[in-house]
Amino acid sequence: MVIALDGHSSSGKSTLAKDLSSLLSVSHIDSGAMYRAITLYFIRHKVDINNKSTVAYALESINISFKVVDGKTVTVLNGSVVESDIRTMEVSDLVSDVAAISSVRRYLVSQQRRLADAQSIIMDGRDIGTVVFPEADVKLFVTASIEVRTQRRYDELKARGVEITIDEVRANLTKRDHIDSTREDSPLKQAEDAILLDTGSLDRSGMIASATKMIHEKMIKNNV
Ligand code: DC
Repeated sequence: MVIALDGHSSSGKSTLAKDLSSLLSVSHIDSGAMYRAITLYFIRHKVDINNKSTVAYALESINISFKVVDGKTVTVLNGSVVESDIRTMEVSDLVSDVAAISSVRRYLVSQQRRLADAQSIIMDGRDIGTVVFPEADVKLFVTASIEVRTQRRYDELKARGVEITIDEVRANLTKRDHIDSTREDSPLKQAEDAILLDTGSLDRSGMIASATKMIHEKMIKNNV
Protein backbone atom coordinates (compact mmCIF):
# COMPACT_ATOMS: atom_id res chain seq x y z
CA MET A 1 0.00 0.00 0.00
CA VAL A 2 1.26 3.48 -0.84
CA ILE A 3 -0.24 6.64 0.67
CA ALA A 4 0.97 9.89 -0.92
CA LEU A 5 0.72 13.10 1.10
CA ASP A 6 1.59 16.25 -0.81
CA GLY A 7 1.10 19.87 0.07
CA HIS A 8 2.53 23.22 1.07
CA SER A 9 5.30 23.79 3.61
CA SER A 10 4.04 23.79 7.20
CA SER A 11 0.58 22.63 6.17
CA GLY A 12 0.81 19.90 8.80
CA LYS A 13 1.49 17.09 6.34
CA SER A 14 4.60 15.74 8.08
CA THR A 15 2.85 15.62 11.46
CA LEU A 16 -0.12 13.97 9.80
CA ALA A 17 2.14 11.48 8.03
CA LYS A 18 3.82 10.58 11.34
CA ASP A 19 0.47 10.11 13.09
CA LEU A 20 -0.92 8.01 10.23
CA SER A 21 2.25 5.95 10.22
CA SER A 22 1.85 4.95 13.88
CA LEU A 23 -1.90 4.48 13.58
CA LEU A 24 -1.67 2.24 10.51
CA SER A 25 1.72 0.67 11.40
CA VAL A 26 3.11 1.66 8.01
CA SER A 27 6.60 3.20 7.51
CA HIS A 28 6.76 6.94 6.93
CA ILE A 29 9.27 8.58 4.63
CA ASP A 30 9.65 12.36 4.76
CA SER A 31 10.87 13.07 1.22
CA GLY A 32 11.51 16.73 2.12
CA ALA A 33 14.15 15.49 4.57
CA MET A 34 15.98 13.91 1.62
CA TYR A 35 16.05 17.24 -0.28
CA ARG A 36 17.19 18.92 2.93
CA ALA A 37 20.00 16.37 3.45
CA ILE A 38 21.32 17.02 -0.06
CA THR A 39 21.12 20.77 0.58
CA LEU A 40 23.08 20.35 3.81
CA TYR A 41 25.75 18.37 1.96
CA PHE A 42 25.97 21.07 -0.74
CA ILE A 43 26.34 23.80 1.92
CA ARG A 44 28.99 21.87 3.88
CA HIS A 45 30.97 21.01 0.78
CA LYS A 46 30.46 24.40 -0.88
CA VAL A 47 28.92 22.82 -3.99
CA ASP A 48 28.04 25.40 -6.63
CA ILE A 49 24.39 24.57 -7.35
CA ASN A 50 24.54 26.37 -10.69
CA ASN A 51 27.25 24.07 -11.99
CA LYS A 52 25.65 20.90 -13.40
CA SER A 53 28.76 18.73 -13.42
CA THR A 54 29.76 19.72 -9.88
CA VAL A 55 26.25 18.85 -8.70
CA ALA A 56 26.32 15.49 -10.54
CA TYR A 57 29.74 14.70 -9.07
CA ALA A 58 28.59 15.61 -5.55
CA LEU A 59 25.47 13.42 -5.83
CA GLU A 60 27.73 10.39 -6.33
CA SER A 61 29.17 10.98 -2.86
CA ILE A 62 25.85 11.24 -1.08
CA ASN A 63 24.11 8.44 0.73
CA ILE A 64 20.83 9.15 2.50
CA SER A 65 19.02 6.71 4.74
CA PHE A 66 16.68 6.70 7.72
CA LYS A 67 16.91 4.96 11.06
CA VAL A 68 14.79 4.79 14.17
CA VAL A 69 16.29 6.34 17.32
CA ASP A 70 14.24 6.29 20.55
CA GLY A 71 11.10 5.53 18.56
CA LYS A 72 11.63 8.41 16.12
CA THR A 73 12.71 8.13 12.49
CA VAL A 74 15.77 10.30 11.84
CA THR A 75 17.61 11.21 8.65
CA VAL A 76 21.13 9.87 8.14
CA LEU A 77 23.56 11.51 5.70
CA ASN A 78 26.68 9.48 4.87
CA GLY A 79 26.47 7.64 8.17
CA SER A 80 25.75 10.62 10.47
CA VAL A 81 22.40 11.59 11.96
CA VAL A 82 21.55 15.05 10.59
CA GLU A 83 17.93 15.36 11.73
CA SER A 84 18.34 18.74 13.46
CA ASP A 85 21.05 20.05 11.07
CA ILE A 86 18.62 19.78 8.12
CA ARG A 87 15.95 21.88 9.91
CA THR A 88 17.96 25.12 10.20
CA MET A 89 16.95 28.35 8.43
CA GLU A 90 20.16 28.17 6.39
CA VAL A 91 18.97 24.89 4.87
CA SER A 92 15.35 26.10 4.56
CA ASP A 93 16.55 29.15 2.64
CA LEU A 94 18.35 27.09 -0.02
CA VAL A 95 16.39 23.84 -0.21
CA SER A 96 13.80 24.94 -2.79
CA ASP A 97 16.55 25.99 -5.18
CA VAL A 98 18.25 22.63 -4.74
CA ALA A 99 14.92 20.80 -5.18
CA ALA A 100 14.42 22.57 -8.52
CA ILE A 101 17.55 20.89 -9.99
CA SER A 102 16.47 18.03 -12.29
CA SER A 103 19.48 15.79 -11.57
CA VAL A 104 18.77 16.06 -7.83
CA ARG A 105 15.12 15.13 -8.41
CA ARG A 106 16.00 12.15 -10.63
CA TYR A 107 18.45 10.89 -8.03
CA LEU A 108 15.93 11.14 -5.19
CA VAL A 109 12.86 9.90 -7.07
CA SER A 110 14.60 6.63 -7.90
CA GLN A 111 15.63 6.19 -4.24
CA GLN A 112 12.08 7.01 -3.10
CA ARG A 113 10.60 4.40 -5.44
CA ARG A 114 13.08 1.80 -4.20
CA LEU A 115 12.04 2.48 -0.59
CA ALA A 116 8.49 1.39 -1.48
CA ASP A 117 9.61 -1.80 -3.27
CA ALA A 118 9.58 -4.01 -0.24
CA GLN A 119 7.08 -2.41 2.11
CA SER A 120 3.89 -0.41 2.49
CA ILE A 121 4.70 3.24 2.82
CA ILE A 122 3.36 6.70 3.64
CA MET A 123 5.45 9.33 1.88
CA ASP A 124 4.99 13.06 2.20
CA GLY A 125 6.39 15.72 -0.12
CA ARG A 126 5.45 17.82 -3.14
CA ASP A 127 5.41 15.43 -6.10
CA ILE A 128 4.62 12.09 -4.49
CA GLY A 129 1.13 11.67 -5.96
CA THR A 130 1.99 13.31 -9.29
CA VAL A 131 5.46 11.93 -10.12
CA VAL A 132 6.94 9.49 -7.61
CA PHE A 133 3.87 7.26 -7.13
CA PRO A 134 1.21 8.24 -9.67
CA GLU A 135 -0.46 4.88 -8.93
CA ALA A 136 -0.59 5.45 -5.13
CA ASP A 137 -3.56 3.81 -3.42
CA VAL A 138 -4.54 7.03 -1.66
CA LYS A 139 -3.44 10.61 -2.35
CA LEU A 140 -4.04 13.55 -0.03
CA PHE A 141 -3.21 17.16 -0.82
CA VAL A 142 -2.71 19.03 2.43
CA THR A 143 -2.84 22.79 2.66
CA ALA A 144 -3.75 25.79 4.85
CA SER A 145 -3.61 29.58 4.42
CA ILE A 146 -0.22 31.31 4.45
CA GLU A 147 -1.11 33.00 7.77
CA VAL A 148 -1.95 29.73 9.49
CA ARG A 149 1.19 28.07 8.14
CA THR A 150 3.38 31.03 9.13
CA GLN A 151 2.09 30.96 12.69
CA ARG A 152 2.60 27.18 12.94
CA ARG A 153 6.16 27.34 11.65
CA TYR A 154 6.97 30.36 13.84
CA ASP A 155 5.70 28.54 16.96
CA GLU A 156 7.69 25.45 16.01
CA LEU A 157 10.94 27.40 15.49
CA LYS A 158 10.44 29.42 18.69
CA ALA A 159 9.86 26.20 20.64
CA ARG A 160 13.25 25.05 19.34
CA GLY A 161 14.83 28.30 20.54
CA VAL A 162 15.45 29.73 17.05
CA GLU A 163 15.76 33.54 16.97
CA ILE A 164 13.47 34.65 14.15
CA THR A 165 10.66 37.11 13.43
CA ILE A 166 7.24 36.19 12.09
CA ASP A 167 7.94 38.29 8.96
CA GLU A 168 11.08 36.27 8.23
CA VAL A 169 9.13 33.04 8.56
CA ARG A 170 6.35 34.31 6.25
CA ALA A 171 8.94 35.48 3.69
CA ASN A 172 10.67 32.07 3.69
CA LEU A 173 7.38 30.17 3.26
CA THR A 174 6.17 32.50 0.51
CA LYS A 175 9.45 32.18 -1.34
CA ARG A 176 9.43 28.38 -1.05
CA ASP A 177 5.75 28.15 -2.14
CA HIS A 178 6.64 30.20 -5.21
CA ILE A 179 9.74 28.23 -6.20
CA ASP A 180 8.11 24.84 -5.44
CA SER A 181 4.97 25.53 -7.46
CA THR A 182 6.53 27.32 -10.44
CA ARG A 183 9.64 25.19 -11.08
CA GLU A 184 9.71 23.38 -14.43
CA ASP A 185 10.47 19.91 -13.11
CA SER A 186 7.70 18.30 -11.00
CA PRO A 187 6.09 21.46 -9.61
CA LEU A 188 3.95 21.28 -6.49
CA LYS A 189 0.36 20.73 -7.58
CA GLN A 190 -2.63 18.73 -6.52
CA ALA A 191 -2.91 15.42 -8.41
CA GLU A 192 -6.25 15.10 -10.18
CA ASP A 193 -7.21 12.15 -8.03
CA ALA A 194 -5.93 13.60 -4.71
CA ILE A 195 -8.30 14.47 -1.90
CA LEU A 196 -7.94 18.04 -0.64
CA LEU A 197 -7.49 18.47 3.11
CA ASP A 198 -7.45 22.03 4.45
CA THR A 199 -5.93 21.84 7.93
CA GLY A 200 -6.50 25.54 8.73
CA SER A 201 -9.18 24.95 11.33
CA LEU A 202 -7.95 21.56 12.50
CA ASP A 203 -5.76 20.65 15.44
CA ARG A 204 -3.61 17.52 15.43
CA SER A 205 -6.42 15.16 16.43
CA GLY A 206 -8.81 16.84 13.97
CA MET A 207 -6.28 16.33 11.17
CA ILE A 208 -5.85 12.64 11.87
CA ALA A 209 -9.61 12.12 12.26
CA SER A 210 -10.36 13.84 8.92
CA ALA A 211 -7.53 12.05 7.13
CA THR A 212 -8.40 8.57 8.39
CA LYS A 213 -12.04 9.10 7.39
CA MET A 214 -10.97 10.19 3.89
CA ILE A 215 -8.50 7.30 3.53
CA HIS A 216 -11.08 4.80 4.69
CA GLU A 217 -13.68 6.04 2.21
CA LYS A 218 -11.14 6.05 -0.62
CA MET A 219 -9.97 2.52 0.17
CA ILE A 220 -13.52 1.19 0.22
CA LYS A 221 -14.14 2.92 -3.11
CA ASN A 222 -10.91 1.53 -4.60
CA ASN A 223 -11.40 -1.91 -3.09
CA VAL A 224 -7.95 -1.79 -1.46
O1 DC B 1 8.65 19.40 3.33
P1 DC B 1 9.89 20.30 3.51
O2 DC B 1 9.55 21.73 3.80
O3 DC B 1 10.85 19.73 4.48
O4 DC B 1 10.60 20.26 2.07
C1 DC B 1 11.78 20.97 1.84
C2 DC B 1 11.84 21.41 0.41
O5 DC B 1 12.03 20.29 -0.45
C3 DC B 1 10.62 22.16 -0.10
O6 DC B 1 10.93 23.52 -0.31
C4 DC B 1 10.30 21.52 -1.43
C5 DC B 1 11.23 20.39 -1.60
N1 DC B 1 10.57 19.11 -1.83
C6 DC B 1 10.30 18.76 -3.14
O7 DC B 1 10.56 19.53 -4.05
N2 DC B 1 9.76 17.55 -3.41
C7 DC B 1 9.45 16.70 -2.43
N3 DC B 1 8.92 15.50 -2.73
C8 DC B 1 9.69 17.06 -1.09
C9 DC B 1 10.24 18.28 -0.82
